[in-house]
Amino acid sequence: MRIFHLSAECYPIAKVGGLADVVGALPKYQNLAGLQAAVVMPFYDRKFTQENEFDTVFQASTLLGTRRLYFEILKEKTDKLGFELYLVKIPGLIDRVEVYQYPDETEQFIAFQIAFLDWISYSQQSPDIIHCHDHHSGLVPFLLQHSKLYTRLANTPTVLTIHNGQYHGSFGWDKLFYLPEIDLSKTGLLDWGGAINPLASAVKCCWRYTTVSPTYLRELSISSNGLEYLFYLEGAKGQGIINGIDTDVWDPNKDPMIPNKFSIKQITKGKQANKEALCSRFDLSPDKPLISFIGRLVGEKGADLLPAAMEESFNEHPGGFNFLVLGAGEKDTETELLELKAFYPEQCNVFIGYDEALAHLIYAGSDFLLMPSRVEPCGLNQLYAMRYGTLPMVRSTGGLIDTVIDFGDEGGYGIRYNHASVEDICHAVTRALSLYGNTKHTQFLCKLMMALDFSWDRSAKEYIDLYKSLNPTL
Ligand code: ADP
Ligand code: GLC
Repeated sequence: MRIFHLSAECYPIAKVGGLADVVGALPKYQNLAGLQAAVVMPFYDRKFTQENEFDTVFQASTLLGTRRLYFEILKEKTDKLGFELYLVKIPGLIDRVEVYQYPDETEQFIAFQIAFLDWISYSQQSPDIIHCHDHHSGLVPFLLQHSKLYTRLANTPTVLTIHNGQYHGSFGWDKLFYLPEIDLSKTGLLDWGGAINPLASAVKCCWRYTTVSPTYLRELSISSNGLEYLFYLEGAKGQGIINGIDTDVWDPNKDPMIPNKFSIKQITKGKQANKEALCSRFDLSPDKPLISFIGRLVGEKGADLLPAAMEESFNEHPGGFNFLVLGAGEKDTETELLELKAFYPEQCNVFIGYDEALAHLIYAGSDFLLMPSRVEPCGLNQLYAMRYGTLPMVRSTGGLIDTVIDFGDEGGYGIRYNHASVEDICHAVTRALSLYGNTKHTQFLCKLMMALDFSWDRSAKEYIDLYKSLNPTL
């Protein structure tokens, strides 16, 4: 079974968030299960592309409106990631450093999709499934079915996975001419709210869509930045499949990014040694409970609530715990967090930026990981935290509901709260500190969490079953 995953991100080539982790792991586990899964993504001028060797497997030119684009498809020579990796390179348009936020992002992602389709069409490939991730490849299901150029591929089953329904990639109808020749009677399939909306079009035209957790599937018809009614209408095509984690990359017993490796048996010693390394780097006392936050500093993650919630908690529990942040994002939140650090230098430290190795150390060396998310389609941070014996403190939303059970409930291990509010975060901190005071209970919960299985094995199989349901000959 030949599958193409289309994505803007893929670890370790280019990562902004969890999308990269999923696309860097799922195909590997699908291949172990006997599929032939490959990843196709835009070319980025980054460490991975500079340090690895590629073959040019295809070269051609195509049109983006009236602009002729020369493109090549590069394949990583060794398949060392556990899957074939193909990069679409278009000099001057898709050969830059960053993944997002260029003013011509619309042109970049349309060109990426056209180049992919031209490549598989001209090179006479017949994938069994095309699996699109988020809006960046959302026009592919429409183009396959309604552009004359790709008639040969019109019956190829398409799957869309929605990692984040807040972003749609919308653009104005004045850019319709960027698309290759299409059946103009079908343009309604591109439209949502008077604009060309790639995510909405993908939901309408894909054969099936999945969300990265079952709860998020339900939430999309209540809140999805204007697509609620569409999700209500198309709900029968949807399925929630919880993400897994790459247990080769995220293994506290082998992780090269942490100074002290540990298994479940040495959890107490192992975590303490990593905590000491982490605290010494950030001038914090390793004898106090350490609550950390890792992530994009944006409203979706509830990051704006952190400064006020932590100030209130520091006052409520003077000298009672430490707080560490790793993240970057909205400038106001960054500034407020740095002010918090200046006010409470002995209890708080903040690292503004992106640092993969530091994230691993924080998962390994913290006691608690705070996630006050307003929206969390799945969330991988809590899964990494649990694998590293760190108790998640999460708001009850999306995938956090599906993966964390409050320790007060039967079989529970984490801390959950209902509202993305300062009050609820403070209450969660109080509960965390009283739990921490009970060493035996905490150790029991940490061991319980480390033994949980969030590997890709089960979820990769769910995707395979889904593919088979679309193509019974497979
Ligand atoms: P999202 O994709 O919405 O950002 P996820 O929880 O799915 O959230 O995944 C976030 C991923 O990005 C995790 O692998 C997390 O460790 C990583 N991450 C987020 N911010 C940073 C950062 N500042 N430095 C290092 N890793 C980060
Ligand atoms: C998105 C979501 C996050 C999810 C990730 C991977 O970035 O915000 O919750 O874990 O995709 O699916």
